[in-house]
Amino acid sequence: MNSTLQGQLQELAGRERLAELGGGEDRIAKQHASGKLTARERIDLLLDPGSLVELDKFVTHRCTDFEMEQQKFLGDGVVTGFGTIGGRKAYVYSQDFTVFGGSLSGAHASKICKVMDLALKSGVPVIGLNDSGGARIQEGVESLGGYAEIFWRNTQASGVIPQISVILGPCAGGAVYSPAITDFVFMAEANSYMFVTGPDVIKTVTHEEVSKEALGGAETHAEKSGVCHFVRPDERATIHAVRQLMGYLPLNNLDEPPLKVTQDPIDRPCSAIGKLLPESANQPYDMRALIADVVDDGEFMEVHAGYSPNIVVGFARMGGRSVGVVGNQPAHLAGCLDINASVKGARFVRFCDAYNIPIVTFVDVPGFLPGTSQEHGGIIKHGAKLLYAYAEATVPKLTVITRKAYGGAYDVMASKHIRADFNYAYPSAEIAVMGPEGAINILYRKEIAAAEKSGKLAEERTRLVDLYRRTFANPYKAAELGYIDEVIDPADTRRLLIQGLRMLEGKRERGPSRKHGNIPL
Ligand code: HXC
Repeated sequence: MNSTLQGQLQELAGRERLAELGGGEDRIAKQHASGKLTARERIDLLLDPGSLVELDKFVTHRCTDFEMEQQKFLGDGVVTGFGTIGGRKAYVYSQDFTVFGGSLSGAHASKICKVMDLALKSGVPVIGLNDSGGARIQEGVESLGGYAEIFWRNTQASGVIPQISVILGPCAGGAVYSPAITDFVFMAEANSYMFVTGPDVIKTVTHEEVSKEALGGAETHAEKSGVCHFVRPDERATIHAVRQLMGYLPLNNLDEPPLKVTQDPIDRPCSAIGKLLPESANQPYDMRALIADVVDDGEFMEVHAGYSPNIVVGFARMGGRSVGVVGNQPAHLAGCLDINASVKGARFVRFCDAYNIPIVTFVDVPGFLPGTSQEHGGIIKHGAKLLYAYAEATVPKLTVITRKAYGGAYDVMASKHIRADFNYAYPSAEIAVMGPEGAINILYRKEIAAAEKSGKLAEERTRLVDLYRRTFANPYKAAELGYIDEVIDPADTRRLLIQGLRMLEGKRERGPSRKHGNIPL
């Protein structure tokens, strides 16, 4: 090597080392002391070892106000690039809190936009690791413009490439709207916060006193607001969960989800379901146990586990292929659909539909949750979201009614009428306009009044409920009409679903040409 090049390479190595130090050793030590990893340590955990190809390592900000020209850090507070996760491509950006608190300058935003543009052009997911004090205060509107450039790209990329946000520090003000547009938000139990206005502003405006954790910590967003889809105890576990999720997803909307070879036999009988289904229709059981008995190796990656537990959604594999699973959860609110469950289910169904992931739905739903809070809160428009999502979905849709499928909820939960492809029911299924208790009150008002007068109310109600159950609360009327393709032994669930999924692999369905539908928001 000639001595000139040698010198140039030394200079390059020096600059690289400087860029890799971010805000410097003291600030890195402070980051560690607060229980957080650095931007680069996080990328090392996320990507396959040694796979990062970094971009824009020497970019600096352009601000000259507040004597900022004297404070420049190579990379300007965000590490960007691409690499692999389990051998599959991913773009990544990771905000560096050691540089101006990870705050977003015009240059910082341009770096993020560059990877987003590359990702969209080449059909590769983007994962953003967020740890930022928000808009770079010294840059004013240039920073706001930078945020809006990111939001615009998030919107353009929606439904084309999976976008994942991981919150590992503060994420406040308008900055929250990028993660909110992306498909999945991950948070770590400690140190992750998201809010539009922080505790101090809230105190000034509304006189409420609230801590950062209670206002916008991981638990709050996982259980109350539903902003966060996955919570893990610490940064390592959170980043590991991102890698896990990526294993279920295709790279883009024209790609197929990856295949994971399994030793779990396709025709394995589901022996747990028969024992799981209770004798009485009013007893709860855990839908997650039923799902685990059906899917490959019992592996189910639940999405939104802490939010609206009356509906269960998540990813699994069947015969090695990814599926999105939706199930009513009789163990919570008897599996009723309410506002939050409808919104949670709708968002998940739309994600699966956008990314060619077949949807398997397990139905056990007594109906929509009654009550003024639900009606006044807009259960009509929110419930319509789930209906709309299922109706517009063109991916393979397979439905199993395990027990109750009553009223409008029967229609909504991937019924034949909104174009599910295969609809199965267990012999225990009850498919009717409403449950027996409510139905006999309306159908047999006079008989019930007479029985009450003659002191034989209990016997008469039992007789009428039995009569109704035999006539309507079973799967056979629906099977006669072809609304149910087959009444099946629960033990055969796995085999039949996998056979169905294979038959539907080539499914192509197109709706009418239009700019876009108008989902009830
Ligand atoms: C420039 C910032 C900054 C910011 C933090 N820093 N936030 N620099 N712009 N927004 C710098 C600090 O000056 C400090 O620099 C370093 O980052 C670390 O910050 P600390 O305050 O020491 O850290 P900590 O105690 O952990 O507190 C973190 C924090 C706090 C909670 C994020 O820094 C904070 O409240 N920052 C301001 C947040 C904010 O109001 N942002 C604007 C929101 S409005 P030194 O040199 O001392 O290390 C917004 C609008 C977006 O973002 C709209 C989009 C549409």
